[in-house]
Amino acid sequence: MAMKNKTYATILLAVYAVVATVHVAADLQRFDHLPTKADGSLDILVVGDWGRRGLYNQSNVAHQMGKIGENLDVDFIVSTGDNFYEDGLIDEEDSLFYESFTQVYTATSLQKQWYSVLGNHDYRGNVLAQLSPVLTQKDSKWLCLRSFIVNSGIVEFFFIDTTPFQDKYFTETDHKYDWRGVLPREEYLSNVLKEVDMALEESIATWKIVIGHHTIFSAGSHGNTQELIDQLLPILEAKEVDLYINGHDHCLQHISSQNSQLQFLTSGGGSKAWRGEVNQWNPTEMKFYYDGQGFMTLRVTEGDISVAFYDVFGEIIHTWSNTKYTHMDS
Ligand SMILES: *[C@@H]1O[C@H](CO)[C@@H](O)[C@H](O)[C@H]1NC(C)=O
Repeated sequence: MAMKNKTYATILLAVYAVVATVHVAADLQRFDHLPTKADGSLDILVVGDWGRRGLYNQSNVAHQMGKIGENLDVDFIVSTGDNFYEDGLIDEEDSLFYESFTQVYTATSLQKQWYSVLGNHDYRGNVLAQLSPVLTQKDSKWLCLRSFIVNSGIVEFFFIDTTPFQDKYFTETDHKYDWRGVLPREEYLSNVLKEVDMALEESIATWKIVIGHHTIFSAGSHGNTQELIDQLLPILEAKEVDLYINGHDHCLQHISSQNSQLQFLTSGGGSKAWRGEVNQWNPTEMKFYYDGQGFMTLRVTEGDISVAFYDVFGEIIHTWSNTKYTHMDS
């Protein structure tokens, strides 16, 4: 009998341990994706606002991503969201997944892991379907989550679910959004902010990059996102984040900050672009604005980070780089 009690106690302890682990791990899911090249560098592609069955130059952008991706031997691909137009996916069987993703990004170099966030258009469909592991079974390169971390050693990527931050989606009547898993909203948002803040605080990576669908600053047609300026930007500045990368405005854009080292990069040129709408911006901050299609590359080493924007012909149309002498610090 005593033996039996002891067994029960052990089982109970084990159950508690599992519950405790799940609770801690529930903070932000973390993936390790370390560089594999001999020189330790990491190369990635970033594309946003793309899923339109190959139309609006999506296929041409995909083709160039394939070529550049092969030249650079990219480690993985990041999607800044608005993965499936106009209204996300209907369910896990939605053929749009094949027509706008699997059948478009066919180059060998693009058969790497994709890390995707959700955009506002994705929230107009069945969000749980887009987040479902069933899609990863259909196409193993697919992974879309709400907020999560990819740790690449020298650089850490913090992906943030930005759609629930924007007030207007909660009052808009002409579109329906799938808020399952997001309500109560205030609790959801404060958890995201707290988790990202903590994860940035604990990060020991040389380079910290935050990725979300929505703009913080942008001269494009959507413009700035005030909710993110108010709630997210102070955290990014306090934690000395290097880059904020987003989509949402269908353009390629680079804005630098006068208050910090933070650079604002928009890679939202995955398909439909050419809105022809550019707002006035302080020329010392506006480093680059291109209203057409294309994508971005990012190369990170222990001491250097560099960004390049490519157009639909595979031409480099803007570059930026920065250096950190990490070993000379302190
Ligand atoms: C495709 O790209 C070319 C070159 O930038 C551009 O002239 C053309 O308008 C684009 N087509 C569409 C449908 O956006």
